[in-house]
Amino acid sequence: MELNLAGKSVIVTGGGSNIGRAISLAFAREKVHLTIAEIDEGQAKKVVAEAEGQGAASATSVATDVSKWESVVAMVKGVEGRRGQVDVLVNNVGWTHDRLFVEKERAEWEKEIQLNLWGMINCTRAVLDGMIARKSGAIVSLGSDAGRMGEFREGVYAACKAGVIALSKSVAREVGRYGIRLNVVCPGMTIPDSDEDIGGLSMWASEGNRAFSTPEMQARIAKAYPLRRIGKPEDVAQAAVFLASDAASFITGQTLSVSGGYTMM
Ligand SMILES: NC(=O)c1ccc[n+]([C@@H]2O[C@H](COP(=O)([O-])OP(=O)(O)OC[C@H]3O[C@@H](n4cnc5c(N)ncnc54)[C@H](O)[C@@H]3O)[C@@H](O)[C@H]2O)c1
Repeated sequence: MELNLAGKSVIVTGGGSNIGRAISLAFAREKVHLTIAEIDEGQAKKVVAEAEGQGAASATSVATDVSKWESVVAMVKGVEGRRGQVDVLVNNVGWTHDRLFVEKERAEWEKEIQLNLWGMINCTRAVLDGMIARKSGAIVSLGSDAGRMGEFREGVYAACKAGVIALSKSVAREVGRYGIRLNVVCPGMTIPDSDEDIGGLSMWASEGNRAFSTPEMQARIAKAYPLRRIGKPEDVAQAAVFLASDAASFITGQTLSVSGGYTMM
């Protein structure tokens, strides 16, 4: 398959942990110029070193808060200055803490909206001027099956992810004429292989989410998946790399679940 990613300039937001880390390393193996836009600089630097070892044409981390417009603009301008352009953006940052809607504090809703929706809006807007000028680009965003079907204890998170899907489709309609594609990948439950693969700001570092990491809990969850296992970060990375590549050059506005058949739509 002709991915044609070698030498491309790729930004992965939140590329320090779990799925973002796996996506960063999968792009590195395709020999791209990789930029990891992360709030956790220490974790990002670890992944930069791994990416260099796995074949990246170059790898750089940029301290970025995707929820802050100025931070995102500075990061994108830096990449455009360094590499000349942004060919691929992966909007990977996301966050939730599972709680019933009526039991959530407003501050937690606000954080979910900032990280899952505003982050994606900011980064998408910031790369588009350059992509429109060059009449080319691919944006892959991380959604969630929660955003497709709704999910118990994930109300506002699900609403944000539905927003990521709707915004991707809407902008795909607007910028398709410039050769720019937007698609969404929806992971199922995807737990890091080891504590080494996440930083302190990963949602998997929180006590609440650690409960999902026990073999008993994972076996229980796997029963809800037709393929009878939970996801690996690499499962999601493969789909993101494909959708960003020339092999997917006639695919836009689509939502692909990588969740062992948890949703089928
Ligand atoms: N893991 C899953 O089970 C699962 C399921 C469905 C959807 N998703 C989605 O996939 C994506 C990745 O999930 P994950 O499990 O790898 O997440 P994660 O929490 O493990 O990693 C997120 C990364 O983003 C970074 N980050 C946090 N706030 C940031 C900010 N303001 N600016 C820049 N970076 C920031 C963190 O430091 C961390 O490295 C998210 O969008 C998530 O909603 C994950």
